[in-house]
Formats: sequence, C-alpha cells, structure tokens
Amino acid sequence: MAEPQAIHLSDYRPPAYRVEKTELTFDLDPSTTRVRTRLHLQRHPEYGEDAALTLHGHGLTTERVAIDGQALLESEYRIEDDQLVIDRVPAEFVLDTEVVIDPANNTALEGLYVSGPMFCTQCEPEGFRRITWYPDRPDVMSVFTTTVIGDRQRQPVLLSNGNPIERGELPNDRHFVTWEDPHPKPSYLFALVAGSLECVRDSFTTMSGREVALELWVEAPNLEKTDWAMASLKRAMTWDEEAYGREYDLDLFMIVAVDDFNMGAMENKGLNIFNSAAVLANPQTTTDAAFQRIEGIVAHEYFHNWSGNRVTCRDWFQLALKEGFTVFRDQSFSSDINSAPVKRIEDAALLRTLQFAEDAGPTAHPVRPDHFIEISNFYTLTIYEKGAEIVRMLSNLLGEETFRRGSDLYFERFDGQAVRVEDFVDVMAEVSGEDLTQFMRWYAQAGTPQLTARSDYNAEQRQLTLTIRQQTPPTPGQEDKQALHVPVRMGLLGADGEPIKLVINGESNGTDTVLHLREAEQRWVFDDVDEGAVPSLLRGFSAPVRLDYPWSRDELSHLMRFDEDGFNRWDATQRLALIAIEEMMVAHQRGELMALDARLIEAFRHLLREPTDDKAVLAEMLRLPSEAWIAEQQTRVDIDAIHGARRAAIEQLADNLFAEFESVYHANQQTDAYAPTPDQIASRSLRNVALSYLVANGEPEALNMARAQYEADHNMTDVRAALTLLAHSDRADLGDPAIRAFGERWAHDSLVMDQWFATQVTRPQADALERVRFLMKHPAFSIKNPNRVRALIGAFTQQNRVNFHRLDGQGYQLLADVVIELNRLNPEIAARMIVPLTRYHRLDEQRQKLMRGELERIRKEELSRNVYEVVEKALA
Ligand code: PHE
Ligand code: ZN
Repeated sequence: MAEPQAIHLSDYRPPAYRVEKTELTFDLDPSTTRVRTRLHLQRHPEYGEDAALTLHGHGLTTERVAIDGQALLESEYRIEDDQLVIDRVPAEFVLDTEVVIDPANNTALEGLYVSGPMFCTQCEPEGFRRITWYPDRPDVMSVFTTTVIGDRQRQPVLLSNGNPIERGELPNDRHFVTWEDPHPKPSYLFALVAGSLECVRDSFTTMSGREVALELWVEAPNLEKTDWAMASLKRAMTWDEEAYGREYDLDLFMIVAVDDFNMGAMENKGLNIFNSAAVLANPQTTTDAAFQRIEGIVAHEYFHNWSGNRVTCRDWFQLALKEGFTVFRDQSFSSDINSAPVKRIEDAALLRTLQFAEDAGPTAHPVRPDHFIEISNFYTLTIYEKGAEIVRMLSNLLGEETFRRGSDLYFERFDGQAVRVEDFVDVMAEVSGEDLTQFMRWYAQAGTPQLTARSDYNAEQRQLTLTIRQQTPPTPGQEDKQALHVPVRMGLLGADGEPIKLVINGESNGTDTVLHLREAEQRWVFDDVDEGAVPSLLRGFSAPVRLDYPWSRDELSHLMRFDEDGFNRWDATQRLALIAIEEMMVAHQRGELMALDARLIEAFRHLLREPTDDKAVLAEMLRLPSEAWIAEQQTRVDIDAIHGARRAAIEQLADNLFAEFESVYHANQQTDAYAPTPDQIASRSLRNVALSYLVANGEPEALNMARAQYEADHNMTDVRAALTLLAHSDRADLGDPAIRAFGERWAHDSLVMDQWFATQVTRPQADALERVRFLMKHPAFSIKNPNRVRALIGAFTQQNRVNFHRLDGQGYQLLADVVIELNRLNPEIAARMIVPLTRYHRLDEQRQKLMRGELERIRKEELSRNVYEVVEKALA
C-alpha cells in the first residue's frame, strides 16, 4: 500500500469545470443501489481546452460514462486513485454516469448507507464521492434535482434537499419522488433519506411573513421524543432573525433522526440529518445536560443555513470559517436563553481542558491548518471551539453593533459563494477600520499562548504596574511563534472587595477594561490604587490562553467572594482548589496523610451558607476541577496521585460540610412537574452536586438518600445522578440491583442504554475494565454503532482515567484492539477513539512505553488514511 500523501493549502487551484446543474436518480436497493447522474458542465474561463475533467469517486462500480449522450469506450477515460479522468472534453457539455453502490455494507457511514430500517446519507466532508462521480469539493456549487425511487412498502417516505416537485407510482410496487433545491450548493450538503418514518409537523412564520413548513421525521416509537427539538428549532429560527437578521430561505425545513451516525448532526440544505442522540428527548429518558445539548445542536445546524450553506468554504482548510462562526452563534443563542455565566463556564472549561490538551499533543494544528492527510481528522476542538473563541474575540474587539454590521456585509457580499477565512476577517476590518493583520495569526498559529502576568505596587506613588508576557510553546512543525493580539479583560478589586476605578495615563477606564496585549511583553500602570488591590484577569475568559499569575490563597478567596465577573469567581474557586489538591498530590506521592487546606473548606462553607451567586453558578463553583484539567496543569502527570488527591479532597469537604450539603439538598427538592427550564435545571444541578458530596462522606444515610432519589423516578436527570452515585459506590448491594433494574426497564431504548453503559464503565473501582469487556458482549452493544462505541469505549478511555491508565497496560490494549477493529469498519470513528492513546508525552516512563507499544502494534495493520495520520503523528 502506498503511503497516504498530505494535501497542502498552497496547492489550491480553482476547479477547471463548474457544474451548472446536477440531476440525480437513485434506484434504491440495500445492496445494489443504482445512481444515474447528469452533470451540466462548463469549463472555467481560466482554463484551456487541454484541461482534463477530473471527478472524485470511491468504491463505485461504474457502468456507463457518456458525453452529450454518446457513451464513452473504456479507453476514452481513466479511473485511477479514486479519480475519473477524461483528458479532452468540450467547453460546455453534459456528462452522464451510472454507478452501482452497496449501502447495506457501508460501515464507514459516509456516503449512502443503511441505518436500521432506513437509507440515509452523510456527505461532509467527502462522502458524496462514495455516491457518484463528481467534483466533490466545496467550491463547486450547483443546483440539484434528485429523483428517489424506492419500494412502496419499505420506503414509503423518500426525502432529499429542497422542495418536492413530483411524485408517482412505478411498476413492481415501486414509487418515486423528485426534489428540487433551487439554492446552489456544494456536494457535501447533499442529503437523501428513505424509509418507513413518521412525521411531526409544525410551522414557522418568518419575519417577512413567509410560512415555512417544519417537519421532524422519526421512527414511530420515537414520536414521543420530538417536542423539544421542534420547540428548539423555532426558538433558533426566531433568534437568528433577531440577532443576525437572517431569515430561512425555503418553504420546507426537515430534520431526520437516525441511529447510526458518526457525528452529532449535519446541516444538509433543507434536510438536516441528526444522530438520534442529538435530537430525541423527553423527561423520562433525557438528562438536563442532554436537553441543553440538543437545543444547542438543533440551533447550530439551523444557523449553518447561513454560516456554512449560503456562504460556504472555498476548501476544507477553511473549515473553521463555517464551524467557528456557527459554534459562536450557537453559544450566543444558548447563553441568551439559559444561564449565561454557566454557559461560558462550560464552554471555557471544555476548551481549556480538552482543546488545550489537543494543542499540547502530537495532533496540534492551527485553526486553519495548511496541510492534512485526511480532512475527517480535522473536525476537532481546535477548529470548532478555538475557532469560536477567535470569532468571540473579534466580536468583543469590535463591539456587538459593529460585529453585526460586519456579519451583515459578509452574508450580503458572499452570498452563494465559497470563501476563505480572510474574507470574513477582511469584512470585519472594513466595517470597523481596525487593523486585523496581527489578529489573523490566531488562525495560522497552533498551540496555546501562555500569558505570564506580574504586578508590582508602589505605595508611595499609589501605582500598580501590571506586566504581561506572552509566549506560545512550539508545536509539531511550528517551532517559532509570533506574538498574538490578545484581548485581556480585567479589573482591580480593592481590599474591601469594591471595584477600583482604572486610571491609565490619566485616563479613566471604568472598573472593567480590555488591555490589548500585542507585544511579547507589555506594561500598564494604574494610578490612584490603594494598597492590597487584587487583579482580576482574563475576565469572561476573554482569550483562549493559559494565564499564570501568582495569586495567594487569600487573594483567590477574595476574588471568589467579590469579583463582579461571574466567570472569574468560578475560576478563582478552581485555582484555589487546584492549589489544595496539588498539595495533597505531593502527600500522596510521599505516602503521607492527605490533609485538605482549611481555607478551601472555609471558602466552601461560605458559599454554602451565604450564597451570593445564582444556583447554577454556585453548583459549578462547588464542583472540584476535573482530573483532566488538573492533569493539564502538570508538567509530569501522575494519574494515581491526581485521582487519589481529588477523591480525598471531596471526602474531606463532605466530612466537614455534611450539614451544609444536607440542607442545600433538602432546600432544592422539587415538586413541580419536570421542565428543562433554567431555574429548574439550576436547582437540580445544585442538589445533585450536594448529593454527590453527601454520598462521598460514606454515611449509609447518604446512600439511602441516593437510593430514594433513584426510586422516586422523577426525571432522568435525578435518576441518572442517583444511579451513578450508587453504581460508583463500594456498596454492590445497592449499586448492582439499581443497575440491573435500570437495564431491564430501558432495554428497549438504545439512547438510555448508552447512559447505562457509560455509567457502569466510568466507575472508579478496579473492576471497571472487566466490566467493559463484559459489556462488549452485551446484546445491546454493537461495534458498528458509533453511539454504543462512544458510550462504552469512549466513556471508559476518556472519563475513567485511573482505570484506562492501569499499570498492567490492559486499558491500552483494550483500546488498541477496538481501534484495529474499527479501522476496518469505520475509519472516522477509529481515528477519534484512538486519541487517548496518543496523549502519553507527560506520563511516567512505564505508561509511555506501554502506550507506544500499542501504537506500534496498530501501525503494523493495513491502516486507513484516518488512523494512519494520527498514529504517524503520535509516534513521530
Ligand atoms: N458539519 C457538522 C456540524 O458541525 C458536523 C459533521 C461533520 C457531521 C462531518 C458529519 C460529518 O454541524
Ligand atoms: Zn457545524
């Protein structure tokens, strides 16, 4: 097998032929689907008549190729390396092709495949080439007409993009529907769904008074789980009109739920296809977190209609152009309708835990990469989440109003075009008059910038000098980094807790300002500052950077109590807890007693007794930093010390504050009917955090409370929280019966069974790995279903650090076995699952050796491009 080659941004060439019009006919059959394609092609004026026509295709059985109705001989075209090449073609012509594909055996879930009782497609980024010969690149935009022919009994519903224009009966109990999508689109936005599906209908009146039919298609048993997504969709449609002036542009908007799906969901024009886990919800089966996630994803896919579909990407290097902007838009939407500070805390925590880890690992890449082997490997936290942070910085830099003028101009100017990151940033520069040249480096430079801030107080002059240095560590292939333009939002807190007026060079800046760090080192002098002022830095997580500042514990406690910025109150709590836990880690390593810093206990006591924050934020503050985030702060990662110290900290907080947690638990008992409203969610969140501490204390009474909550069976959020505590306790007499009962009750619901799998394999006890092995043989488990794989293997390898990193190497071996199997079935999922195995660089030598050993074992296989790329980087 030839080594897969990298593709470079610098090699970009515009397409030689454009597709004016695409006509497709699908004759559906599980193992022999026939696809007839008619392309109306036109040579680009920049190219001459010697420009060959090159089309992409993968796994196609080609039965016919014809130009202007004239069938070509096999000698008149070439098929090599997934390309069909015709050397000489007219400047304008019609190309007909006919191919046969095998959806039933498509386990990669790219292109046309079978999921349960239905046919469905996934074309982003390069799935369309598994359907037919086509210039499968986003800068080729075409109008599509699609005829879908299916069996009248088995596929009564036949869907594609746009509007249905014709339907009819055919011989042999077949029928067809023809769809027309008037908006030119790249092939990655093509979609087709066929099967026996039920529909929930609603409608939406747009701001200009047009009526849009909304349809949510599901398998019959899921009809009771559609309300939330439909309501979320309407909220999203309203929000995009109000916040961005964007109106929907077709008469019909459809969402389909499918069980086998590699990602969360897909924004196909007019026909969004969703992983059922990202759309189906009801209070009995779905947790608050999942309700909110679904709301966010429904909005995200809908928002793509403008940021992605109407204005799309010129090439896949520009992926963050649509994803970063759209994530920023869905974050703003969720923040507007839920707890804004908690949304910010969650997003920042995700970024600074998992995205920072990506930046520090072997697969680090810029938000706009300049080369890749397999683009599917680049649907990463860096592209999505860091991409969104860059747009957020722009919005903050320009101010909301100017940013909106910029986005209006962007949509207007580039409507119907495939563009680049520069086009977006240039528009923002144009409307604001800002010079964003340095800012563009955020897209080009990989790695997490490290800010080091120091303050110096001069009592005589009553001046505080703040010095901030920035430095970005090298990443693979990028040794030298340049200074970035980093917006640092900040304030100063007086010793009395009051905000201090910020006077710089005689100019007043209120009590909250943004410092623009552009140099490697910069200095700001604040006048009129009394002794004892505490800087509050990087408020609202104003830039995706690490920040080092030598706050004392007393200063952190001070910020926790008085900072006007909710995000920084939370951050101060995390930092205070980190210091305490790190101290206990040292004790753990020395085999000494681990005693929790009394200041943290007192800070928590204060939080619990006199809560100043809303419940949602309070619940976040009470959660200790995750093991993953603690690990991120270490130069050498000691898996067991982190786990042991964090666990001990929780237990000691529980012992010291049992009464406080108990009263919070009781005070937040709910009697109202369940609803995923921000208020209710906040109460449940706080109550379940309290319960987790009570159970950690080990009193039988607390476990009984958990059992009672489980048995009360009020809603899935409370049931799942209680079940997790029981299943993760040492009391098998409580955990096992609950797990058994839950598994029996929900055996019919695969989404709930995913929760059941994940709950069991995240238990900290030493038998977790054996449980994974055992559950992989469970009839409800299937390696071919990405949700099951994520629930079992993903949850174990990503959320059960002590057990995945077992010193006998069995965790690594298990993952490698799974990756080897997935490599053949579903390369995209294989390349995602392998990631924990590549994060060995800061672990102890023994583990490093074991992990590299498993990577070497994987490398001996015949690898997909996806897995090849990740393994090569990891072993480099
Ligand atoms: N474009 C999708 C989204 O962000 C994600 C996706 C990528 C889905 C690739 C499937 C395949 O909404
Ligand atoms: Zn997206």
